[in-house]
Amino acid sequence: MQWKEDYAIGIPEIDKQHKTLLEFITEFEDAFAGKKHWNTVQPLVVRARDFLKFHFSVEESLMQIVGYSELDGHRAEHLYVVDQFTLLEHRVLRQDMRDELMPMMSVWLFNHISESDKPFGHYVQDYFRAARAA
Ligand SMILES: [Fe+2]
Ligand SMILES: [Fe+2]
Repeated sequence: MQWKEDYAIGIPEIDKQHKTLLEFITEFEDAFAGKKHWNTVQPLVVRARDFLKFHFSVEESLMQIVGYSELDGHRAEHLYVVDQFTLLEHRVLRQDMRDELMPMMSVWLFNHISESDKPFGHYVQDYFRAARAA
């Protein structure tokens, strides 16, 4: 999967983390394309899950700092993605999920980035613009 400038939400640190998430997806693709054994894929899944949780808590902390009114709904979307990821981990344990895994991860993450993270990015930019002007 390729990073597109259109994915940028305008907060450099968050964009950097989104790029890291995309790198995880690419690593998954490579691991599955090489038909890597579960022993190789499993640590990658654990690292991806931990990074995903870290990323979500960074976003939620920033939302709290700037008083973002959509925090609860946004957090619910994050929880949904983490839940789905956990289910996926269990399914990967049982069978080769290559065909389903990539589209699912990409859809959850990149829909979330463009539909929910992006409006938040705009909110944060407005917030700091207003703070600088004050
Ligand atoms: Fe995000
Ligand atoms: Fe988010």
